[in-house]
Amino acid sequence: MSHEKVETNIGLMGVLIAIVVAIGGLVEIVPLMYQAQVVKPLPGIVPYPALQLAGRDVYVREGCYNCHSQMIRTLRFETARYGHYSLAGESVYDRPFQWGSKRTGPDLARVGGRYSDDWQRLHLIDPRAVVPESNMPGFPWLAEAEVDGALVRTKIERLRLLGDPYSEADVAGAEAAVAGKTELDALVAYLQALGKFGPRLDATGASTINHEGVQP
Ligand code: HEC
Repeated sequence: MSHEKVETNIGLMGVLIAIVVAIGGLVEIVPLMYQAQVVKPLPGIVPYPALQLAGRDVYVREGCYNCHSQMIRTLRFETARYGHYSLAGESVYDRPFQWGSKRTGPDLARVGGRYSDDWQRLHLIDPRAVVPESNMPGFPWLAEAEVDGALVRTKIERLRLLGDPYSEADVAGAEAAVAGKTELDALVAYLQALGKFGPRLDATGASTINHEGVQP
């Protein structure tokens, strides 16, 4: 009887659907909010130094995430190609994170150190100079643009306000750290640090972290 009442009254049904969806949402979303607080940075993971922070912003501005993810999934063929799967504790200081899912190009979560600085510079200015079949666009203007030191300092101050553990010295030294650097220098510094403190796989391809996310 009551079921019939609901099915023949679209207004009542709409209200009941909204209530059920709201409960489902709470059950799924609220635990995640608390989980975010307990995600701790992995050993070695610190807020981005000034130059890398500037580079990260270039990465976001130029839309590199439209073609590159920074998230290695827990699948054998992914870890065999890119290395240890990504952990939340690696991106605690990423605002916003660059995990992504679009892969026109390869995942970059552990690209740091895979190539020399010179390779990275050349590749960013003219990808086909080093990878003839590449369809990645070149970003030659980055070599001309200087990093705005005052802006980097302000960003570090703001991130500090948001709770990132930057020191007074980090704020005071921000402008000097990027003085005379180009956006290309900054982007290469950022890329070369990607995954540097990430977890590693052992010779058998197994994870070297324990359940606390700590590497032995
Ligand atoms: C239109 C898609 C596209 C965009 C946008 C793009 N890339 Fe790429 N990227 C690729 C492709 C495809 C490759 C593989 C071929 C190559 O190495 O050039 C690649 C390769 C790379 C590699 C080498 C990765 C490896 O493991 O060999 C790096 C580093 C890289 N891109 C960085 C960047 C950065 C930084 C930006 C933004 C400034 C960017 N890409 C923007 C498509 C793109």
